[in-house]
Amino acid sequence: MLDLPLAPRATAALTDVRGSFGDRAALAGIDVSIAAGAVTVITGPNGAGKSTLLEVLGGTRPVSSGIRTVRGAVAFVPQRAAIPDGLPVSVRDVVRVGAWGRFGLWRRADATAREFIERSMDRLEIRSLAREPFSSLSGGQQQRALLAQGLARDADLLLLDEPTTGLDASSALRIRAVLREESARGVAVVCVSHDPAVIGDAEHTIPLVDGRVRAEV
Ligand SMILES: Nc1ncnc2c1ncn2[C@@H]1O[C@H](COP(=O)(O)OP(=O)(O)OP(=O)(O)O)[C@@H](O)[C@H]1O
Ligand SMILES: [Mg+2]
Repeated sequence: MLDLPLAPRATAALTDVRGSFGDRAALAGIDVSIAAGAVTVITGPNGAGKSTLLEVLGGTRPVSSGIRTVRGAVAFVPQRAAIPDGLPVSVRDVVRVGAWGRFGLWRRADATAREFIERSMDRLEIRSLAREPFSSLSGGQQQRALLAQGLARDADLLLLDEPTTGLDASSALRIRAVLREESARGVAVVCVSHDPAVIGDAEHTIPLVDGRVRAEV
């Protein structure tokens, strides 16, 4: 596999990446480098290709051409809307999924993994909800559980699609605080967001328009 060297302090990079849906180009030649220890926000109008770019970074969407390089483990925090209503799992189950890589799908979590799962819930202030069905939670609580799942993965690259959109103020504040904590400990955090507060927290911005990174003016 072709692997380009990453710049120092970079966790991921895309080089001339193109992707399309049918004959429509969703990404049209993207070059980006994602810094470790920083929050990067992907901005742009509806349909600009923001979610597509995030999925390409996460490796969950194939590209037509170009090169993707990632150092370390990736956690992708899905949008709440992507989780089916009535899924019969508890909040702790949802968070535990993030740690599967540590103990395997069919084995019990060892004490260290269990501790990490509980700590992830503590950080999002949802431990008291651990036994509740995920589907009974409010939108803000669900998004916090999904971020806790991402933390449980202990990734180097943490990807989130509109993590604060439509949430109550306290959930949004907690999520932003955790994202800053993760970047402070060296994680490369990338979110798609329209939220001025999230954009204000970010060290880097990738402004997308029509599948291209808009030149800074
Ligand atoms: N499953 C799909 N099938 C066909 N076209 C799609 C699909 N998903 C996205 N697209 C198209 O690809 C382009 C980029 O979509 P994408 O979802 O990445 O945009 P976005 O910037 O995240 O938009 P939004 O702000 O609405 O979330 C758009 O033109 C969109 O219509
Ligand atoms: Mg989107």
